[in-house]
Amino acid sequence: MKVTIVGAGAVGASCAEYIAIKDFASEVVILDIKEGFAEGKAMDLMQTASLNGFDTKITGVTNDYSKTAGSDVAVITSGIPRKPGMTREELIGINAGIVKSVASSLIEHSPNVIIMVVSNPMDTMTYLVHKTTDLPKNRIIGMGGALDSARFKYRLAEALDAPISDIDGMVIGGHSDTGMVPLTAHATRNSIKVSEFISEERLNQVAEDTKVGGATLTKLLGTSAWYAPGAAVSAMVQAIACDQKKMFPCSTFLEGEYGLEDICIGVPVLLGKNGIEKVVNIELTEAEKAKMQESAAGVRKTNDLLDL
Ligand code: LAC
Repeated sequence: MKVTIVGAGAVGASCAEYIAIKDFASEVVILDIKEGFAEGKAMDLMQTASLNGFDTKITGVTNDYSKTAGSDVAVITSGIPRKPGMTREELIGINAGIVKSVASSLIEHSPNVIIMVVSNPMDTMTYLVHKTTDLPKNRIIGMGGALDSARFKYRLAEALDAPISDIDGMVIGGHSDTGMVPLTAHATRNSIKVSEFISEERLNQVAEDTKVGGATLTKLLGTSAWYAPGAAVSAMVQAIACDQKKMFPCSTFLEGEYGLEDICIGVPVLLGKNGIEKVVNIELTEAEKAKMQESAAGVRKTNDLLDL
């Protein structure tokens, strides 16, 4: 398993670090446009190998896509991150051009690659890759829901004063401050609905805090978060590498599922060796269905800004 990570910024480096620590890939290539930067991050990470006990070989390259040849999975983190007060949608002008050219360079050297899009606005960037490449839809995956679900579980655990491992929950919809749909009615603690433990008002607050999870961190850090995004990517890449058929909410191209078409948006899918192996249809409440439609309308508004 060879994994390429485009972008050696904080998110890209965190992806590489978690993938290496989990030790399921033989090779990770980090690519960046800034001279020497990816090489430096790769060398620093390799010097943790004997300490953290992994055998994954990490190398860095400056904009040389020939070194990414034969990649099984490529993660696109390139582009600019948001600054405090910015929405993910505001990044589209710069990031669309970058993501489009990165995707085409990756495919040129790795025709069988599975592309995972992290760059924001993520659902629209995933749609852009779908529209501008010949990759089948199972090989284009947007990472957002796995991260948002991890943030949802964190907020639920906080509200219930419970260990996070007791909590299960999922966020679908668009990866945006207003578009996320935390499935509060489905969330559980040890299979018991969380509504048994906290008030409806508190649960609504959890949902709101989840939706602005990225913005909250951007305000605290001065830039976009990286640990949880990196952990989410690594879990998804592992599901593909190890053919786990594990369920994650991912942005994928829909053709009628959830009543939506010609859009990439977060829905539950199974990840395995072919990328998206299956879109999982779950019964949503009427309120969740309405939120999903509203979320899709928001994603379409951003998609309309693309020069396709
Ligand atoms: C976040 C970015 C990765 O939510 O979109 O932190």
